[in-house]
Amino acid sequence: MGAPPELPAELPVLPLRDTVPFPDTLTPLAVGQERSVRLVNDVLGGDRMLAMVASRSPDIEAPGPDQVHEYGVVGTVARMLKVPDGTLRILVQAGPRIRLTGFSADQPYLVARVAEAPDVVREGPELTALVRNVQETFSRIVEDVPYLPEELQMAVANLDDPSALAHLIGGALRIKTEEKQALLEELDVARRLRHLSEVLARELEVAAIGSRIQSRVQSELDRSQREYVLRQQLKAIQEELGERDPGEAEVAELREQLDAIALPDEVRRQADRELGRLEKLPQASAEHGVIRNYLEWIAALPWDTTTDDNLDLAHAREVLDDDHYDIERVKERILEFLAVRRLKPDARGSILCFVGPPGVGKTSLGQSIARALGRKFERISAGGVRDEAEIRGHRRTYIGAMPGTIIRALRDAGSANPLFMIDEIDKMGADYRGDPASAMLEVLDPEQNATFRDHYLDVRFDLSKVMFITTANTLDTVPGPLRDRMEVIQLAGYTEEEKLQIAKRYLVPRQIERTGLRKSQIAFSDAGLKAIIAERTREAGVRGLEREIGAACRKVARRVAEGEDVRKVNVTAARVRELLGRPRFQPEARRRTQQAGVATGLAWTPVGGDVLFVEATAMPGKGRLTVTGQVGDVMKESAQAALSWVRGHAALDDGWFGDHDVHLHVPAGAVPKDGPSAGVTMATALMSLVSGRRVRDDTAMTGEITLTGQVLPIGGLKEKALAAQRAGITRVIAPRRNEPDLEDIPEHLRADLEFVWAGEIGDVLEAALEPPRDGRAWFAEGRDRGMLAAETQADR
Ligand SMILES: Nc1ncnc2c1ncn2[C@@H]1O[C@H](COP(=O)(O)OP(=O)(O)OP(=O)(O)O)[C@@H](O)[C@H]1O
Ligand SMILES: [Mg+2]
Repeated sequence: MGAPPELPAELPVLPLRDTVPFPDTLTPLAVGQERSVRLVNDVLGGDRMLAMVASRSPDIEAPGPDQVHEYGVVGTVARMLKVPDGTLRILVQAGPRIRLTGFSADQPYLVARVAEAPDVVREGPELTALVRNVQETFSRIVEDVPYLPEELQMAVANLDDPSALAHLIGGALRIKTEEKQALLEELDVARRLRHLSEVLARELEVAAIGSRIQSRVQSELDRSQREYVLRQQLKAIQEELGERDPGEAEVAELREQLDAIALPDEVRRQADRELGRLEKLPQASAEHGVIRNYLEWIAALPWDTTTDDNLDLAHAREVLDDDHYDIERVKERILEFLAVRRLKPDARGSILCFVGPPGVGKTSLGQSIARALGRKFERISAGGVRDEAEIRGHRRTYIGAMPGTIIRALRDAGSANPLFMIDEIDKMGADYRGDPASAMLEVLDPEQNATFRDHYLDVRFDLSKVMFITTANTLDTVPGPLRDRMEVIQLAGYTEEEKLQIAKRYLVPRQIERTGLRKSQIAFSDAGLKAIIAERTREAGVRGLEREIGAACRKVARRVAEGEDVRKVNVTAARVRELLGRPRFQPEARRRTQQAGVATGLAWTPVGGDVLFVEATAMPGKGRLTVTGQVGDVMKESAQAALSWVRGHAALDDGWFGDHDVHLHVPAGAVPKDGPSAGVTMATALMSLVSGRRVRDDTAMTGEITLTGQVLPIGGLKEKALAAQRAGITRVIAPRRNEPDLEDIPEHLRADLEFVWAGEIGDVLEAALEPPRDGRAWFAEGRDRGMLAAETQADR
């Protein structure tokens, strides 16, 4: 820089805003303030020298003496340019560092007394090391920091004057003004370099982070750019080849499918919206899959497809007869139902509900109706459904969401007016996930189902054209509101005669055909079928019977397949045992009632009627009553009533019941039993016990008992009678007030069974108990009236 002219004692002071001047640098400055313009003009008229110092705060317009830093540099104005707006651009060559020692004027601009501020240099290895360190670090920073020109790297590498090095770098860095000022003011060069290397280390760190971020952004950009370019190329190639991009093709295909369907407005809007979204999403994204799946569901539903109903009643009659034996009353009801449909096609159809034990043909009747009408048939099981979502679906936001069972069945049916058979409506559960019964109600209710909304589809589907038939084993557990909307058709169990006819006409031919046999190879005799019915099944319906017939057919089919020359196997009673093995069931009543204290009762359960045995025993004790077996509360109460009545009427010592505990046991079949209709059976068992008279083994009974010995009517007489027949019972004692129910009981069953009608318990006991062996009195009519038989007392 050549030896600067002698430093004058005083210099005008040019305060710098936001900049710290460093020695030996060339600094371009804009000068706008009036007093500074004047200052520059003045020095240009003289030796061109001035003092440059940083202001202490960039906010001050025209800093006073106290508002500038103490250290600065001497500068010589090398060039000046006047800008039309009146400001100046100057280029100042900075000289050595100076210190302002005091001010001699502050008007029109600051003038200060100045002194040199020379470096303190202590040569040594430390200084050299510091120099190297600073050079190295700086050169790395230059690589990462865009604002530092690369020429600086060279300049720094070639500069070995420690002080000049510090100044050069300090001036170039974009660090805080105070930090720069501190570097300028540090006279000890080693200390200044140390300070500088700390600053550099920090800057390097910042630069490294910055460049990491930068390069990540860059590579991200590169990748998406690359993908974009490749996609464009792919598109061009496909266009060239006349192909479409698979994603677009897929959307186009879905759109075509949906366009071909007459969708309701709401659905059309929804579909268009989703198609629009689909187009914008990359094919590989999860969202894409979800939307495509959704649109596929929409496209798969029968929005505008229906089948034409065949309402020809003669045809319906034919189909029903083809598939089912007898059940005349049921068929009549079905035909009436169809007749109404025919006369009033758009009448909101009521819902049929078939109630009856398993295997009596509920499902197969539904299939027949569908066949007669020419509708598609779908079965939906409501049994065990606890979650509303099974019926109505899950919202699409769930992972793996699907429509509910109703919408799925519609898709399977492929028509908007199928026949849906909703099975086991009595076995629907409910838990915290919502009440499926109310969802089912919405499905079935003609008032609501035109606007059925599945959670997944989230648009309405009109279910009003669907014909619903529900089935149940019992109506007891069907929620009231649901029951109210259904037209109930009861199907009772079959008698042995009916089973025989069903087997001969329907089950045997069907099973023969299923096993691939010819009619010439196998035949079932009536006795054979009866043996199967009596010994191998105990059911209200015919499902087990059909299974056993099937099993027999398969045994014969196997022989044929193995090449045996089978002329014709005639399945007789004996052949049944040979083909199928030992009898599974034996008449039990006879064996059980060998002993006094056991009575045979008849019970109704959802799977049909059943026989039950009541066993009574007594042991020394304190007059307690124990009731065991799978017995409900109502049944326990009637046990108590039975005991009270017997206690009041048995011809026993006054003290006997006080000294004995009585135990009533109802050996449980699989089905829990409850209800009051076992009252008379329990009274009979107790009376049999205390009188020592056995219960007749051909007799079973049913009836509720009151404390005064009245026998009250019961339900399910037909099922109970059928159960009696199955168990080999020939006499049934039933409440007198049930006599009109005899009408329900098929002729041939009435012929097989003797009915004894009882008005009070005395009638029951008289009919049920065997006569006393020695002719003694066994119970006292109206004991409380003091008419206890004298000889009974004497006997004991
Ligand atoms: N009256 C009948 N005539 C001819 N076949 C019958 C008759 N009743 C029932 N079947 C036959 O018995 C079998 C069982 O009937 P189905 O499956 O319809 O019983 P279900 O009442 O629906 O029983 P579940 O309550 O167990 O569902 C079927 O193969 C059916 O064809
Ligand atoms: Mg069924």
